Amino acid sequence: MNSTATSSTVPERFRNRVVPTYGRFPTELVRGQGVRVWDQDGRRYLDLGAGIAVCSLGHAHPALAEAIGKQAQTLIHVSNLYHHELQVRLAEKLTDELRSGKCFFCNSGAEANEALIKLARRIGHASGRFEIVSCLNSFHGRTLATLNATGQDKVRRGFGPSLPGFRHVPFNDLEALRSAVSPATAAVLVEGIQGEGGIHPARPDYLTGLRALCDEYGLLLLFDGVQCGHFRTGRFQSFQRILETDSQAESFRPDGISMAKSMGGGFPMGAVWIDTPHADVLSPGTHGTTYGGSPLACAAALAVLEEIQSSRLERNAREVGRYLKSLLENLRQDFPEFIGEVRGLGLMIGVEFQRGPAGADERQPLSLNLEAALRQNGLLTIPSGQRVIRFLPPLNLRREEAEEAVDVLRKVLTSATS
Ligand SMILES: Cc1ncc(COP(=O)(O)O)c(C=O)c1O
Repeated sequence: MNSTATSSTVPERFRNRVVPTYGRFPTELVRGQGVRVWDQDGRRYLDLGAGIAVCSLGHAHPALAEAIGKQAQTLIHVSNLYHHELQVRLAEKLTDELRSGKCFFCNSGAEANEALIKLARRIGHASGRFEIVSCLNSFHGRTLATLNATGQDKVRRGFGPSLPGFRHVPFNDLEALRSAVSPATAAVLVEGIQGEGGIHPARPDYLTGLRALCDEYGLLLLFDGVQCGHFRTGRFQSFQRILETDSQAESFRPDGISMAKSMGGGFPMGAVWIDTPHADVLSPGTHGTTYGGSPLACAAALAVLEEIQSSRLERNAREVGRYLKSLLENLRQDFPEFIGEVRGLGLMIGVEFQRGPAGADERQPLSLNLEAALRQNGLLTIPSGQRVIRFLPPLNLRREEAEEAVDVLRKVLTSATS
């Protein structure tokens, strides 16, 4: 260890040596177990952010740890020039969930969306179509193409000129989408529930309308399931949950879906699912990745999937999610001056605030002040935009842990009123 490492705090060392792409909270986390994490001073937190919807089984889950450990001792990586059984087994399990199609594996959500964008351009190429229409307030990643697909100016600012071929329309507004379609439009890319945008679910009629509109104009319908997918809402994909009570639910099919986050339970893993008619478009030489779908990543994703399926965690996400949302709704009734709205499905819940905690820093957004107050009281959450706090916990969250989280929020709001 050099002298800087011994004499400075970890945040100071970050400031000196790590590119400051993140405004990091001043907490250093050193260990996790289940839904708990501990900081450098031994303080314990209830982690309802779970790495921004990533640690789907919680921290240090024995089945995931064992799968990673065993695979690391067997075969960590082989090039995609070779076959290995774990990759095809994972593809079979994911395509079984959707009853058709094929998968391509990558390492992150942005890469998965890049693959969908390339798919759309490749299919549209012969007829001069290349435009992707996505939604305002969406988030699709930080690579150059995905930040151009993202419907938030603050993400794109300073990275111009904009890439050609991206248009943005208001979410949940079919007519706006219809007017944005041009002869050059190749695809529509949409989140079933906008996550970074503050937890806004799509309406069922919007989803069925999207499918009809895409069919009418010959467009691909692409879902970004990176944050809202992988059983978080109580079904494999959020559109399945949203359409559950709709008569068209079972026949509804997108053309492609991007996945990441919860899929690897913390191990970097991404994928795209492409429905059968287009599943062979990305042929040899058109797309690829060195690391995507490695034996180690697939072993992790398989362990996560097996645990979700054997412990019925989609049912838990639905039930505990409903319970957590009802507790938050009750809190809203008790603190109407603070909480404006509670939104979401399953274990993807956003609380929109209209007032912050006592003694809050007026210079920073309400969401950051609330996150800090909750963290100081032992609860980790994820701020979103100016006013929203997100709950994106592990899918095995228990009712008593949901109660504990809401008790912390109640305590913070109570002290703000006294
Ligand atoms: C909906 C959505 N799409 C894509 C991404 C990008 O994923 P990654 O950070 O793994 O590239 C995110 C990340 O927050 C996301 O929420």
